Amino acid sequence: MVRTPTPADKFSFGLWTVGWNAQDQFGSASRPWLDPVESVHQLAELGAAHVTFHDDDVVPFGSDAAERDRILARFKQALSDTGITVEMVTTNTFGHPIFKDGAFTSNDRRVRRYGLRKVIRNVDLAAELGADTFVMWGGREGAEYDSAKDLNAAHDRYAEGIDTVAAYIKEKGYGLRIAIEPKPNEPRGDILLPTIGHALGLIAKLEHGDIVGLNPETGHEQMAGLNYTSGIAEALWAGKLFHIDLNGQRSIKYDQDLVFGHGDLFSAFATVDLIENGFPSGGPRYDGPRHFDYKPSRTEDFQGVWDSAAANMATYLLLKERAQAFRADPEVQEALEAAGVLELAQPTLGEGETLADLLADRSAFEDFDVDGVAARGFGFVRLNQLALEHALGAR
Ligand code: GCO
Ligand code: MN
Ligand code: MN
Repeated sequence: MVRTPTPADKFSFGLWTVGWNAQDQFGSASRPWLDPVESVHQLAELGAAHVTFHDDDVVPFGSDAAERDRILARFKQALSDTGITVEMVTTNTFGHPIFKDGAFTSNDRRVRRYGLRKVIRNVDLAAELGADTFVMWGGREGAEYDSAKDLNAAHDRYAEGIDTVAAYIKEKGYGLRIAIEPKPNEPRGDILLPTIGHALGLIAKLEHGDIVGLNPETGHEQMAGLNYTSGIAEALWAGKLFHIDLNGQRSIKYDQDLVFGHGDLFSAFATVDLIENGFPSGGPRYDGPRHFDYKPSRTEDFQGVWDSAAANMATYLLLKERAQAFRADPEVQEALEAAGVLELAQPTLGEGETLADLLADRSAFEDFDVDGVAARGFGFVRLNQLALEHALGAR
């Protein structure tokens, strides 16, 4: 059964996803670039609510001011004709050779100043279009060689760039938050802020870090061998999950940007379970757009492009249904209880209890039945099998 998405599902697509001309490292384009206006219409038709884009996806790099105005007017017309809104805008600081050594962290100061100008111009556009989120994916911020970069200075410059943009957003009173998108490598050999945790470390040191959070992408964490769901969970816990890029990746290899669920499906189930149902004992929730950042494979014609766009949403909705059934199942609730999953929400020290009280509590240590308690089975495998059976629709 195919689930039909509606704008209430908050599905969102990057214009660079469906629009991509399928050129890769080894071969030329297998499709033409799509006109963003056409993509907006098609995505609206499929039930999406929002689009997102890099400045250059809509206004080609190097367009003069008059051309830019003309293109943007036509684009805005497509938005108002379809009811599609722009929830996020991002800047292309990776495509043109000027950014071959990065933008905010290029060794060439002139490039850093130019990059900052390009980003600031795009912040104004994001605000004008009513976006909530401004993504920064620093794909060229990095190096291939350890000798090529003063990494202390690079982190200083990265922080300087982000703080400067954040200060500008505040000064202008824009309703925008910055979301950093980590990625371990590709196109650079090593990219700065390679994972969610690395980015959180930098955000904590920013002057304007209160409006800076994360836009984690499924495949990027998986390229680093990490668990995406646990990564976005940490970002949520830290109050920093500002946006998400959902897609599919099959293990540690080049960035595949597959359809959501076409990589590690069971992990996608866990992701949807967290987004839709929250943590088992409550806590912070993600309420933003369900944004897909995937690439329709190079093998596909335009029919395949739209089939793949629809597949992201259908898969998400199927998993949402399955995840809701999982949580609603009394047997699952009992298994969660038995596994201690709900007990973890209980603070380790009791209310009003001090460390001195714990030190005086012989039952916690001296008289503690270490062997007896160590013999406990947690039943995680049974719980996981219940999750799997729900994910497969077998319950
Ligand atoms: C990638 C990234 C990019 C970014 C996008 C936002 O696949 O490496 O997903 O697509 O998300 O450029 O700036
Ligand atoms: Mn990617
Ligand atoms: Mn992305």
